Amino acid sequence: MDRIQNAIAKARASRDGSITGHRAGKANLPQPSKAGVDWSTLTELRLSPTVLDDNRLVAHRSGPDSTVFDLMRINLVRQLQEHRWTRVAITSPGVGCGKTTVALNLAFSLARLTDIRVMVLELDFRRPTMLRAFGLNRRQNFAGVLAGIEQPEDQITRWGRNLAFGLNSAQVPNSAELLSSDLAADIVDVIEDSFRPDVMLFDMPPMNVGDDTLAFVDQVDCALMIAAAEETPISQIQQCGKELAAHTQVLGVVLNKCRMIASGENYGYDT
Ligand SMILES: Nc1ncnc2c1ncn2[C@@H]1O[C@H](COP(=O)(O)OP(=O)(O)O)[C@@H](O)[C@H]1O
Ligand SMILES: [Mg+2]
Repeated sequence: MDRIQNAIAKARASRDGSITGHRAGKANLPQPSKAGVDWSTLTELRLSPTVLDDNRLVAHRSGPDSTVFDLMRINLVRQLQEHRWTRVAITSPGVGCGKTTVALNLAFSLARLTDIRVMVLELDFRRPTMLRAFGLNRRQNFAGVLAGIEQPEDQITRWGRNLAFGLNSAQVPNSAELLSSDLAADIVDVIEDSFRPDVMLFDMPPMNVGDDTLAFVDQVDCALMIAAAEETPISQIQQCGKELAAHTQVLGVVLNKCRMIASGENYGYDT
């Protein structure tokens, strides 16, 4: 843990300044602790394309099903590059709107841009589902990384060269306390500093089940809200948008589960 403690000390020491996004309040990003983590040394996940497809994770290959995510990624990359942002929270008013599905599809789509490094961090510790969506039955403890009891390199896995995942297999009690802790914020800084992703997607819990998302959202640069067509009331979208906007830049609302348009295109994107 010494290396992490040193990096945390650097992250804390550098907080000050006038930059927007999660860097606000930090004069500089923490200096890289070393040459950076070599992603090829991370444990590789072997994902079955059939299982991915069955779980609506379609953007790992280009084609008609992935077009909507490819359009989303272009908008996202433009916004991130324009503002020099990296961190995107993905949340929704309620459960089951499709946060994880959209986050993972967006990540697979981004990872097909081979010069972009993408990291997806599972922060819905109340209902972590990524391993299940991958059809994998393995123990991962990304929450332990944020709690300072696991090394990031031991828990962060990769798919291909440029897509990394911080996955969690078990539900985590007191997830809001974990996500609001200074230690978790510092460790996210350390991860960004040492893994150097171009995009960090944070798969958050829904906003109406607790304060986990609001507890963490100051650590991100921007947020995407996912709403389920015909399920999420407009009033909830407005309320959550207002709460999010008090803390971060809301990039837009993704309207998921639209039935009225052709199969493979049941997502809308509105900014
Ligand atoms: N566009 C969609 N159309 C139909 N079902 C979907 C769509 N997006 C997601 N789902 C399904 O809805 C369920 C909840 O999705 P998930 O991404 O886990 O939501 P959340 O992370 O917001 O709880 C999953 O079974 C998923 O496969
Ligand atoms: Mg989810």
